[in-house]
Order: sequence, then structure tokens, then C-alpha cells
Amino acid sequence: MPYRTIIEPFKIHTVQAINFPTLQEREAALERIGYNLFGLNGAEVIIDLLTDSGTGAMSSKQWAGMMDGDESYAGSRSYYRFRDTIKDITGFAEIIPTHQGRAAEKILFATMVSPGDVVPNNTHFDTTRANVEYQEAEARDLVIAEGKDPSSMHPFKGDMDVAALERTIEQVGRDRVPLVMVTITNNSGGGQPVSMANLRAVREVCDRYDIPFFLDACRFAENAWFIKQREEGYADKTPREIAREMFSLVDGCTMSAKKDGLANIGGFVGLNDPDVARDCRNLLILTEGFPTYGGLAGYDLEAIAQGLEEVLEETYLQYRIRSTAYLAEKVSSAGVPIVRPPGGHAVYLDAKAFLPHIPPHQYPAQALAVELYREGGVRGVEIGSVMFGRPKPDGSEEPAAMELVRLAVPRRTYTQSHIDYVGEVVIAAAERAEDIRGYRITDQAPWLRHFTARFAPL
Ligand code: F0G
Repeated sequence: MPYRTIIEPFKIHTVQAINFPTLQEREAALERIGYNLFGLNGAEVIIDLLTDSGTGAMSSKQWAGMMDGDESYAGSRSYYRFRDTIKDITGFAEIIPTHQGRAAEKILFATMVSPGDVVPNNTHFDTTRANVEYQEAEARDLVIAEGKDPSSMHPFKGDMDVAALERTIEQVGRDRVPLVMVTITNNSGGGQPVSMANLRAVREVCDRYDIPFFLDACRFAENAWFIKQREEGYADKTPREIAREMFSLVDGCTMSAKKDGLANIGGFVGLNDPDVARDCRNLLILTEGFPTYGGLAGYDLEAIAQGLEEVLEETYLQYRIRSTAYLAEKVSSAGVPIVRPPGGHAVYLDAKAFLPHIPPHQYPAQALAVELYREGGVRGVEIGSVMFGRPKPDGSEEPAAMELVRLAVPRRTYTQSHIDYVGEVVIAAAERAEDIRGYRITDQAPWLRHFTARFAPL
């Protein structure tokens, strides 16, 4: 089309009302929840950018599929539709449904990983890391150096450092590396894509050492779109062809259908090795359910099968990646520092640069996240020293590498004017940055403290 504006490729068919708590109500809520935005009631949030996981809008075809879901305990027709759709996209022989991504991780790692092993990834997502560590193995992040630099404009900042991968295998020994994983897109590294060339290079190393290669494929369609836009030789390929090529380079994947499955719940393991698949299914029966539903209702399987078709449509992906870039442009053109270039599913505000007067041990990203809520009822999430700070023996804390606030964009949920509003809220908070104060923690859990910690303003 000759027009500049990329429009939402859908009409709105059902709407859900947004509440508008007043400034006074928002301040009262902040005090009540100890300044931890995980404690908010959804009804207290005006625009919710906490996560893009399970928060998207489903299509009329997905809802229609749900009405027609087959709830047979064994051999549900909806399972066969789910399986065949995923086989068609990925080419994997064995498709194992799970209730969400971390269940797929738990089952795969419990089957393949042993104590003392090392699992390389570009950057482990936190549940992926936790599931590796739960097997008493080490989760090692090997993203390229540009992937850790918020200002580097490298087109594929999610790429794995292939030389570091080889060094790791040489150093720990092939027998202690049960699989190599690459996360597409690299969520913990800013939602940055991985190139096909990098996947091919990792495949080549895995072949040389005979190590299985898996994708954490949560945002595979967004990754395919970036390859189409940025990598030579892919401009004329469809997202589906690109996805198929990515999956053809690996032995299997874990997937959270709450992202690029365009569903509110669900996930799967896909793989080729029948022995590993059998062991995974045996565990699945113990913890998730029979292999033709894996912890999901028949109607969920329908929603995912349809969602996986829709997520690969070019009009959808163009709109999707554009809407994230639009928010990034809006805030960065007003001088707000962000991780660049913007990722597929989220904009990451750089709180260290935004609030240079707040030192890491006073949690600048937490302070910024709180301020966005106070200012305009916008909920993002801290990805900084609250989430990743490590206690030192002397009682102080090792800060995180970056202090970020992630504004994750739910799929097909907010319109351009919602995003314009978010931009205005961020810019209004930026205008009074010098007045924003840090926080101290008053109460925290021994692990994953970011979910429940309470704070007090300094
Ligand atoms: N892998 C990646 C890269 C993820 O981003 C997530 C979830 C998971 C695995 C786990 O999937 O939630 O279905 O169990 N990410 C969400 C987020 C929670 O907000 O980024 P799950």
C-alpha cells in the first residue's frame, strides 16, 4: 500500500472497559502494595505493560475454534489439529502439549540435563535459568558483546557468541553439555533477534561436537520478521518459510504459546528424537496430563492452533513490530534513554541513564516503574537490581548489569492512541526526573524477591 500509516490489521469486535483510578487512588494503592507493582489489582491499572505473555486479544476465529473444542480426555480432535499445525510450521516429528512455557522447560530439562552439566544459551529467561539450576546444572549466558550494550545498533543483538560457545564446550567437555539453547527473540537481552547466520553457525558447532540444539521459541514469528527485514537474502521469503528454516536448524524447541501462540495459556515441546520424546511424555503424564492434552483444555489447543496460523501473517507481523518501534520512537525522540534498537515485544527504558542521581542500591528502575504508575496508571516491570541483584557476604549487594524498565506490548490489545498516551506518561515522568527518589527494601523473600518484596521511598 502506498500509505505511510501501518494500520491495525483487524477491527475491534469485543471491548473490555478500562478503569481510570485518580491520582489520589493510585497513590493510596502504591502505599498499600509497598511500591511493588506486582501487588496491584488489574482494575487499578490504566494501561498494563507488565508483560506480553498471555495478555493478547484473541481473534474471532480463535473464539470460534474454542466453541468447537473437543474435550475428549484421550485423542481429542483438537489435539490433532494442534499437533498438525505445529508439525507443519516446525517440521518436528514429536509435539508434546504443556500448560505453558516453563512446564515445557521443566519436562525437557528433567529428561536431558544432569547435575554438574552446563547449558549454554544466548541469555536464559529467568524460568529457563531456574529450571536448569533446579537440575543442579549451570545456566551459562553467551550472548555477543553488542547484546549487552544498550546503545549498540547491531541488527541481531540476540546472536550467540559462537567462539565463546566453542570455548565453553572445550573447557567443560562435550559430555557435560547436554544441549545448546538459543532464545528467539532474546527476551532478557531486550527482545533482540537472532540471525539465521548465527543459528547456522551454532548448528555447525553442535554438529561438530554432536550436541543437540534447541530453540526457546516463544517469539519465533517476531524473530522471523526481523530476519526478513534485516538479513540479506530473506526479503522475499514469507515469515512461514523463514520460521521453517529456523526450526530446520535445530533438534527441538520449547515454546510458550502465551506469546507467539496468540493464546492466553499453553505451550509445547517439539522435537525429533523419539526416545527423548518418550521420556518427556512419561513425565508429562505425571505432572501435566495425558499426552494429547498436556494440562490444557481441548479449547486451548484450538486457540493455539489458530493463533499459530495468524501470528505468521505478514500484515500482523508488520503491525506488531511497528507498534513497538512506534513507542520507542515516541519516547526516544523526547530524549528518554532506551535500549536501542527496540526489540520485538517491548521497549526497555534505561533507568541508569534516566535517573543518574539514584545509585543502583536504591533501585532506579524500580523508582521509575513506580513513577510511571503514579503519573498515568501505566504498569511496566523492573528488570534491574531488584530482579537480578545478588547479595554479597558483607550484606551489601552486587548490582545488576543494567537498570531497565520493560514496557511489554500485549498483542492486538492496545491501539495507537493508547500507545500515544503511554508515550506522554513516560515523557511527563522524564520532565521531573530530578525529583524522583530511590527506594529501600523493607521486606523480601529469599528467592525471586521481585514478585513480593515491599519497598519504602527514601
Ligand atoms: N522463555 C522466554 C524467553 C520467556 O519470555 C518466557 C516467559 C518463558 C520462557 C516462560 O514461559 O511464562 O509460559 O512459562 N516470559 C514472560 C515475560 C513471563 O513476561 O517475559 P511461560
